[in-house]
Amino acid sequence: MKLKRGFASDNNAGIHPDILSAIAGANDGHCIAYGDDPYTAQATRKFKETFGDDIDVYMMFTGTAANVLGLSAIVRPYQAVICSDIAHLNVDECGALEAVGGIKLLTVPAPDGKIVPGQLGRFLAALGDEHHSQPKAISVTETTEVGTVYTQDELLSLSEFAHTNGLFVHMDGARLANAASSLGVGLKSLTKEAGVDVLSFGGTKNGMMLGEAVLFFDRELSKDFKYIRKQGMQLFSKMRYVSAQFTAYLSEDLCLLNARHANRMAKLLASRLEAFRGIEIAHPVEANGVFAVFPEKYLDAAKKEYFFYTWDPMGPVVRLMTSWNTTEGDIDSFMAALKNA
Ligand SMILES: Cc1ncc(COP(=O)(O)O)c(C=O)c1O
Repeated sequence: MKLKRGFASDNNAGIHPDILSAIAGANDGHCIAYGDDPYTAQATRKFKETFGDDIDVYMMFTGTAANVLGLSAIVRPYQAVICSDIAHLNVDECGALEAVGGIKLLTVPAPDGKIVPGQLGRFLAALGDEHHSQPKAISVTETTEVGTVYTQDELLSLSEFAHTNGLFVHMDGARLANAASSLGVGLKSLTKEAGVDVLSFGGTKNGMMLGEAVLFFDRELSKDFKYIRKQGMQLFSKMRYVSAQFTAYLSEDLCLLNARHANRMAKLLASRLEAFRGIEIAHPVEANGVFAVFPEKYLDAAKKEYFFYTWDPMGPVVRLMTSWNTTEGDIDSFMAALKNA
């Protein structure tokens, strides 16, 4: 079956060949299940090389689980998490944090995807008042849901605000590699060195078959996490196959190289779209997402040949994502479909 590559989601892309061969390479002999295996030990060492020695790492299947369980480790049900109104956590996880963690979300408007400390002071008034959920963490998404990128300075100002006020910082890093690659920095500089306490680290959207990880940069915070993960139904028996993928993903900069390619393709796609009269780029293209306003005739023409998401159900903004295996030819074909309009 020959399938065409489109721009609906980086989740729609296949598996990078190095990851596939890492899975095949782990497929020999028997290993102790549930993570007590040499592949998981090796991946954990890789994580420590990348993010620092004094961390704890837990493999997960999905990004939603990484967010929900990671936050459940640091926030109690009478407490709350502050995030942007467009955070995946808030709009795309079907209320999982509320349902599974029993944790309230407090949202702030973020037209460009980012939250800033100046928006957060009002939540502090609730601290100590038993009538209100107690803010306990800020969750940021890197890259943001609209493809923008928090710089290290922006993250540092948020984490300084958080820590000064007794809050933790959680990062939904489903596309952290795209952000790091966009800024030309390492993964550690946007996380541990930016004051992040707990990270959901994504692999699936950037060349892995499946797998995310929760990283704790303060090991005190993870002391109960093995129970939280098991109760949260994410302790999978054949962990070696996710771990082997992470070893390959973190080796020889594969994750940054994949992200760099995807980001470059997004810039190219955006510049080609801008050449069409009436198409406007809605957000700065800083990573692998292109958000564009499509006049109806282009929308109709593109939809005839491609599946993609309309970002704003009430408006004409579409979300186009590039991935590690997007080619210039894929962009040419998309442009040809638009030209038919
Ligand atoms: C920013 C962000 N966070 C988390 C997730 C959750 O990933 P999953 O679908 O694996 O639960 C996604 C998936 O699209 C995402 O875009």
